[in-house]
Amino acid sequence: MKGEYDKLIEEAINAREFAYVPYSNFKVGAAVLMEDGSIYSGCNIENASFGATNCAERTAIFKAISEGKKEIKALAEIGDIETYTMPCGICRQVISEFISEDIDVILIKNKNDFVIKKFSEIFPLSFSKKDLNK
Ligand code: THU
Repeated sequence: MKGEYDKLIEEAINAREFAYVPYSNFKVGAAVLMEDGSIYSGCNIENASFGATNCAERTAIFKAISEGKKEIKALAEIGDIETYTMPCGICRQVISEFISEDIDVILIKNKNDFVIKKFSEIFPLSFSKKDLNK
């Protein structure tokens, strides 16, 4: 059966292959569905100066925004463990900047095993652009 997020899930899984993770060896892939139906994917990219590391979610989001897209409609993510990988706090903050309504966050174990959470469930009581009337 074809699911609403099949393509998004596939793109996140494929993007994980390109993860640059010589330090953690923990590969992550992510993909965002944008307002016009386009999909952007990304992987985590580490650095010898650890703080310069970019998570997979932010790689995908920054690709989309830098190509003129405005709004995230759904985000999918896959890590490298037996269980689901959750977006880190920094990525949740970045996601909140580019949504105008609640979105689905698809947490993937493999293409046949994923769960869908509402963003509001994983990032409640946030400080975001709404607090600045933006
Ligand atoms: N990482 C992500 O890419 N996304 C997450 O949601 C969690 C953490 C990356 C950062 C780092 O390269 C590695 O996973 C271990 O923390």
